[in-house]
Amino acid sequence: MFKPSIARHVIKPLRTTPVIAVTTRPATTFTRSLSQTASLRKKHNDPAKDKIPAPTLKTPEEASAEREGQFARTDDSVQIEYPPDSEMPAQPVAQGRGGMHYKRTLAQFSLEGKVSVVTGGARGLGLVMAQALVASGSDLAIIDLNGEEAESAAASLVEQFRKENPGLEDMPEVTAHYADVASPDSVNNAVAEVLAKHGQIDNLVTSAGFTENFEAINYPFDRMQKLWGVNVDGTYLFATSVAKHLMERKAPGSIVMIGSMSGSIVNVPQPQAPYNAAKAAVRHLAASLAVEWARHDIRVNCISPGYMLTALTRKILDENPKLRDHWTSLIPVGKMGTPEDLMGAVTFLLSDASKYITGADLRVDGGYTVT
Ligand SMILES: NC(=O)c1ccc[n+]([C@@H]2O[C@H](COP(=O)([O-])OP(=O)(O)OC[C@H]3O[C@@H](n4cnc5c(N)ncnc54)[C@H](O)[C@@H]3O)[C@@H](O)[C@H]2O)c1
Repeated sequence: MFKPSIARHVIKPLRTTPVIAVTTRPATTFTRSLSQTASLRKKHNDPAKDKIPAPTLKTPEEASAEREGQFARTDDSVQIEYPPDSEMPAQPVAQGRGGMHYKRTLAQFSLEGKVSVVTGGARGLGLVMAQALVASGSDLAIIDLNGEEAESAAASLVEQFRKENPGLEDMPEVTAHYADVASPDSVNNAVAEVLAKHGQIDNLVTSAGFTENFEAINYPFDRMQKLWGVNVDGTYLFATSVAKHLMERKAPGSIVMIGSMSGSIVNVPQPQAPYNAAKAAVRHLAASLAVEWARHDIRVNCISPGYMLTALTRKILDENPKLRDHWTSLIPVGKMGTPEDLMGAVTFLLSDASKYITGADLRVDGGYTVT
């Protein structure tokens, strides 16, 4: 079983960022005009007189042979692992986002009368998305490997909601449950527990997941299995368990799987092949289940976040500013996302506002994947 507490936290410093040098190629005189034809060039057979350079696959030695590879985009020395539990920064609940408001908006976005489940909801993106669902009218069950943190997150979330909605009598019902999403028995027990408390489940967000960086040839096999176990098996197990309940109830439902832009592009410079492959699997799992469950009125979509500043990524990047600058320089909007940037996306995909959308991948990445 995966225990975050056994993970070590190693961040090796980034190699000195290569200075982008303009390499001057040896001067070649290219005299052929665009309209010149091959038959005209055949007028002489002496290669010395032929001004057209011979094609070659080899980098000219004078140009950059000594420094070949200097612009390679991955750097095996960048390794980021999860810190142990004791070093995990606490994630505060988002402030000022959950109050009642009196601006006109589409009623279709409301989740009133629904029960939503968020895996990995004790902190990070999961916790803030969970808040969005409560703010939109849903009851909530938070599922996490860290049961205690899930309990305290549920309590702070309700407390924050109360503060932002003074005088509101109808408070949301928010519960917390332990589960290791990579274990079928644990998942089924957690779903049964949620049903016992809430009576039904309508929506699911699978946010439990983690990333690690090792160069592929030295990736410890047991860690790779854990990574796929949580990110892929965990997503599959929770989705199928909730879908089974929806089918038995003959009720419509909406599932949002949290993938990553890493499922569509390859991040640099840190090596993370298994994570990227796992997130590609999550994206295609969403599409495949969307098709399989369409006739049951169960929609399945994927959200692929880009680099998001959670309490954890903030801590990692504060300790490693070169990596932060490198990542930020690759994002078209010029900044990392915040967990709050996912609040609208997840509410949209769970609500009737997206009733005809299934199998989609919504990228929330500041434009990263289109460059
Ligand atoms: N933070 C980012 O920049 C980013 C970007 C793209 C995608 N994502 C994805 O978003 C999701 C959430 O990431 P985050 O940054 O909020 O991470 P996080 O570490 O802050 O939160 C993850 C939560 O999942 C829980 N969890 C881990 N293993 C579990 C298991 N086996 N069973 C149940 N719960 C488990 C953890 O206890 C934790 O509460 C992950 O799937 C991640 O891959 C994150």
